[in-house]
Amino acid sequence: MIVGAGLAGLRAAVEATRAGKDVAVISKVHPLRSHSVAAQGGINAALGNAPDAGDDRWEDHAFDTVKGSDYLADQDAVDILTSRAPEAVYEMEHMGTVFSRFEDGRIAQRPFGGAGFPRTCYAADRTGHNLLHTLFEQAMGTNGTFYDEFFVTSLVVEEGRCVGCVAMDIATGGLQGFSAGAVLLATGGYGRIFNRSTNALINQGDGAALALGAGAPLKDMEFVQFHPTTLYGTNILITEGARGEGGQLFNSEGERFMVKYAPKAKDLAPRDIVARSIQTEVDEGRGFEGEYVHLDLTHLGAERIKERLPGIRQISMDFAGVDPVEAPMPVQPGQHYSMGGISVDNECATPIPGLYAAGEAACVSVHGANRLGGNSLLEAVVFGKVAGTTLGRDGGPGLAPDAVGAAVSSESERIASFLGRDTDTSMSGIREELKRTMFDGFGVYRTAEPMDAGLKKVRELRVQCSSASITAKAGPFNQALIRGLELEFMLLVAEAVAMGAVERRESRGSHSRKDFPDRDDEKFLHHTMVRMADGGLQLYTEQVRLGRFEVKERVY
Ligand code: FUM
Repeated sequence: MIVGAGLAGLRAAVEATRAGKDVAVISKVHPLRSHSVAAQGGINAALGNAPDAGDDRWEDHAFDTVKGSDYLADQDAVDILTSRAPEAVYEMEHMGTVFSRFEDGRIAQRPFGGAGFPRTCYAADRTGHNLLHTLFEQAMGTNGTFYDEFFVTSLVVEEGRCVGCVAMDIATGGLQGFSAGAVLLATGGYGRIFNRSTNALINQGDGAALALGAGAPLKDMEFVQFHPTTLYGTNILITEGARGEGGQLFNSEGERFMVKYAPKAKDLAPRDIVARSIQTEVDEGRGFEGEYVHLDLTHLGAERIKERLPGIRQISMDFAGVDPVEAPMPVQPGQHYSMGGISVDNECATPIPGLYAAGEAACVSVHGANRLGGNSLLEAVVFGKVAGTTLGRDGGPGLAPDAVGAAVSSESERIASFLGRDTDTSMSGIREELKRTMFDGFGVYRTAEPMDAGLKKVRELRVQCSSASITAKAGPFNQALIRGLELEFMLLVAEAVAMGAVERRESRGSHSRKDFPDRDDEKFLHHTMVRMADGGLQLYTEQVRLGRFEVKERVY
């Protein structure tokens, strides 16, 4: 059973069916509305196709990824990601992905932040869209069964083993039990617990909360990526590919400010550095309207913008009224990616037998404290395939249908009692307050006081939520009910993020503390783990698996 039908889930489904397994794919939305569809700029692989860029090797890709991660990534997992990247991209090409091309016909590659070579393969600025459609076609050609618009409310664990799940058919509101020999969570990240997010509304951290509930630990939850360039006003992603094509950032004084923060890499420094630089410019009064900076593409010319960046041009015209062919776009940092997630080994297995995770929902960990642009689509297809292979080995018929039946009854009682509440506390008010709290306390820059206050607030909101109610009590497509159940997940995940951030008294990658501005390898070169214990969340640590790349200062 695979929960989630984005790139990682579909890649796993294709692989597991190839191994002869009966696969069910359960998705909260139609697969083509999964968030992978929104990925723009590209997918990394050391193909070395760019003319005059010299040789690129997967070891160089591995080095850039480890350095980008601020040395928190597990280096054996990074080796898997980067050494299998070329094969993964060619597999997608052979399945049908229409990549952009160089003149000589080879797959085109553009420069991306923190990368030593132009390594990011792309399909204009709609790479995720192309890849997802390819895998959807492939998955439709298998004998897998798809349950679209089913929301998983809980996993079923029997004698320490995950044996299935309970899901709500959103169209009818009815609950259904699914009994399975192996369950893969590929539900995406938890971006929507923050305000100002590029994420789809579905990315509420369902997988992380389900895993915690089943007894599995989460890893490095405090590491949340803020993309430097989201469109001011809506926070829709404006791809890093825009800077890869030569776009430049300017402050309100007309200064190309990245030159002073990252003299060599400039606008193509890694995301954590560019996001902090923009935030500093705005905080120190050199932003526009105290909120944003300019991303200028006008010097690239209309032809190149229309060919390589048609999607973001349209987005900018539709949502900001700015045609980047003619004028700079207003951009600001916004939440974009969850580096943390369900802790899994290199075969995508959690410590709970029968439970697996892949893609953004998981933490393998290949991104550490900061992911490089172009590595998330790659992780989804590489580790989606790994997960499918593992399911091919471990999957089988449901082992405990009675336990699943009993879980359906108890979930049904829980949801009836949820619907039976009648109070003045509204779920939507709590959700808005949560998102604001997370952005204000755990944003681009962090410090102890706002974080402590934020964690306290999240805990208060959890208490309030336990007695909050919704007005729509029944009926098909009861979105208020789904949002309410999701909110319980969001609050749990937010507490895990906040606890990890408070505890990490250093700055590393995306976790940037003004009160502890330096990295502290002696005390904090470890993964933050969190699990459920005695009815609450409990932190502990795990060693980072270092490798051939020595831990060094990170300079760009
Ligand atoms: O900027 C982008 O196109 C995003 C890419 C990514 O998150 O990998």
